[in-house]
Amino acid sequence: MSQHVVAVCFVCLGNICRSPTAEGVFLALVKKDDLSQKIRVDSAGTSGWHVGERADRRSSATARERGVHLPSRSRRLVQEDFKLFDYLLAMDQENLEHMLAMAPNPQARARVHLFRDFDESSSKGSEVPDPYYGGPRGFDDVFDMCEASARGLLKEMRSKFKLP
Ligand code: 4NP
Repeated sequence: MSQHVVAVCFVCLGNICRSPTAEGVFLALVKKDDLSQKIRVDSAGTSGWHVGERADRRSSATARERGVHLPSRSRRLVQEDFKLFDYLLAMDQENLEHMLAMAPNPQARARVHLFRDFDESSSKGSEVPDPYYGGPRGFDDVFDMCEASARGLLKEMRSKFKLP
């Protein structure tokens, strides 16, 4: 039986660039702090365009340079996810709107947030912009945003779920 006390699913459009990066960065933080048994981490996409694929090679390369492995395989976000996860975190406003429309009830909607809202240094409503059609610099920026937001998220989980 799972001993997890809290579960998070990171969500973007394709589930091959941003949300796999967020997942890998957060997994690394959780592992470093020996919280892997307590926190479940996953990611998904609002589209089904890349189902079954590993993370985009540009995302994987950027993460690797920073010592982070991206283990995800793309899957589509499903209704069941709104029951399983305490946090469903959107990378941008479009993802957020899609997720809020999919959420089955107000309790589920309350668990949907923008990921960057957990970064205390970013202004409310900030997005992790889609790097897919841009240059390589976009992938570094995505990584930095994910790292800052992941730190804030872990801090909030620690206090809310009384984790060590
Ligand atoms: P992601 O990036 O949502 O961060 O995974 C994208 C990946 C693929 C596409 C768009 C964005 N696409 O158009 O296929």
